[in-house]
Amino acid sequence: MADKILQIRNLQVTFDTPFGQVFAVRGVDLDVEAGELLGVVGESGSGKSVTFLAAMGLLSSRARVSGSVVLAGEELIGKSSRQLRSVRGRLMSMIFQDPLSALNPVHRVGKQIGEMLQAHQNLTNKQAAARAVELLDIVGIPQPDQRSSQYPHEFSGGMRQRVVIAIAIANNPKLLIADEPTTALDVTVQAQILEVIKRVQQQFGTAVVLITHDLGVIARVADIVDVMYAGRNVEQGSIESLYDHPSHPYTRGLLASIPQPGKGRLTPIRGFPPNMMDPPSGCAFRTRCDFADSTCEIEIPELRAFSDLQTACLRAQLLPSFRKTQ
Ligand SMILES: Nc1ncnc2c1ncn2[C@@H]1O[C@H](COP(=O)(O)OP(=O)(O)OP(=O)(O)O)[C@@H](O)[C@H]1O
Ligand SMILES: [Mg+2]
Repeated sequence: MADKILQIRNLQVTFDTPFGQVFAVRGVDLDVEAGELLGVVGESGSGKSVTFLAAMGLLSSRARVSGSVVLAGEELIGKSSRQLRSVRGRLMSMIFQDPLSALNPVHRVGKQIGEMLQAHQNLTNKQAAARAVELLDIVGIPQPDQRSSQYPHEFSGGMRQRVVIAIAIANNPKLLIADEPTTALDVTVQAQILEVIKRVQQQFGTAVVLITHDLGVIARVADIVDVMYAGRNVEQGSIESLYDHPSHPYTRGLLASIPQPGKGRLTPIRGFPPNMMDPPSGCAFRTRCDFADSTCEIEIPELRAFSDLQTACLRAQLLPSFRKTQ
């Protein structure tokens, strides 16, 4: 069996707000094996970011987190913020949509990479500076020597995201979490950043979690896919199986709503994602599902093996076989 890098079990995250409790994550189970690229998809508000912010220990004290997150054999839930800081950067790091917010505008990029290196490794300034240039080269920044002494505002959006990736991989973490890393970039640059992420995975054996709305992005780079709906996983499996014979009505709906040029109208999923202050009882997707019956109102479906996928649908066996619409 491959090495398990990340194991999440029954993760629950609830926010206390002045308007009431938000049940953002409601029992997520997930595994990431060494060197694998897991794509996480789901509509806005399904709990993708909160799941991994909780795993990284990056949520505010207003969030109540329970369950288990084991990274490379270490349980993270319950660790102090100091202990978690040591894990972040060394064993796992996270990159976000907006590279500017991750960079310090008044420091040269080489220095910022160097600081990340020196936070976890015993390196002289000279060694750190040299390694910073190497890292800029690895993420595909031309003339890394000169670029290293420039400031973030001297880089384009795509080049800034490369710098952020260089910082994230500086200490060769076992896991890189990328939350919508290409959403703010234009299409050609998006493809280049995905290539950099894929290259990091392949060259260094880094496991990657790639969070996105975009099933097209997932199709290009993921090995395994996790589909989230209303704070739970509804389907998991290999990219080939999931695209070929999805068993959860929600996954089918997502696939039918991928826009494809020249292939006619796409079919959006009817209705809206639920309000997470008051999610529906039973299966949260039942309010938008064409196959739901009264049992779906009562029982919360767990992930179960269904063909070669893990599917959380009480009626998976009864669904018509999947016909690709495009
Ligand atoms: N700090 C917070 N306080 C209160 N509620 C929050 C907070 N952060 C997130 N939420 C709520 O938790 C739920 C899950 O949010 P999350 O950001 O994980 O969604 P997401 O799947 O990442 O969506 P998107 O695709 O838009 O990024 C949402 O209902 C959101 O409104
Ligand atoms: Mg998000």
